[in-house]
Amino acid sequence: MINLILLGLPGAGKGTASEQIVDKYHLTHISTGDMFREAMANKTKVGLEAKSYIDKGNLVPDEVTAKLVEERLSQPDIKEGFILDGFPRTTVQAELLEGITQRLNKPLTSVISLEVKEQTLIDRLSARFMCKKCGATYNKISKMPKVANTCDRCGSHEFYQREDDKPEVVKNRLEVNEKMNSPLKDFYEKKGLLTVINGEQTPKKVFEDISAVLDKQQ
Ligand code: AP5
Ligand code: MG
Repeated sequence: MINLILLGLPGAGKGTASEQIVDKYHLTHISTGDMFREAMANKTKVGLEAKSYIDKGNLVPDEVTAKLVEERLSQPDIKEGFILDGFPRTTVQAELLEGITQRLNKPLTSVISLEVKEQTLIDRLSARFMCKKCGATYNKISKMPKVANTCDRCGSHEFYQREDDKPEVVKNRLEVNEKMNSPLKDFYEKKGLLTVINGEQTPKKVFEDISAVLDKQQ
């Protein structure tokens, strides 16, 4: 059983690595960012609240986020294990997650942190674009669609840039997340769960390093 947390600053490659992990290990991918974007698109109560934080690059309050995660982790498709992508991102959330995993009897097996230099993060986020229909992620520098202007996954021709990838928001997002990042890593280091991986490598090599950690847990 693999119950994994992927840590990493905005643009570190959490979503990219998650896709590969899901393909190989069949875990359920839980991205709080994706869940909030869906809630915003559906204009739910949580979505409207989250929007006021996300559009400025701030964090959604810990309790709101933890509640969403607990509800998601309570669903039956989590039996085969999960990847938490983008949660926790504060030590308060990490402590709330302790309670959740205990209540649901789903202990964490591993925490992987993808480490990337700030300038690389800025370059990646400014080059990222998404499919409007299915949310697949592309990059003007490193991952263009195979057929020009056509989504590899769903064939759609419409793309957009995430609101929070605009340069004025990215700066605050990085600052906010950087502040929280090292206490969070310390928290899991002390528990003996943390592995640090160089996220500057190609997606293929990053995934090989992740696999080396996860293969030991199967
Ligand atoms: P979220 O959607 O999680 O955003 P994030 O953490 O800022 O991370 P990103 O999704 O931007 O980056 P990523 O690491 O997934 O990188 P990706 O693989 O796309 O959260 C959004 C917002 O929601 C937050 O700011 C916050 O407001 C709120 N929120 C979410 N969770 C919360 C929580 N727990 N508490 C409070 N608030 C919360 O890669 C980036 C780009 O680089 C892509 O274009 C990709 O193609 C490219 N790329 C990836 N890997 C490589 C590589 N190895 N080499 C070259 N290019 C690469
Ligand atoms: Mg992501």
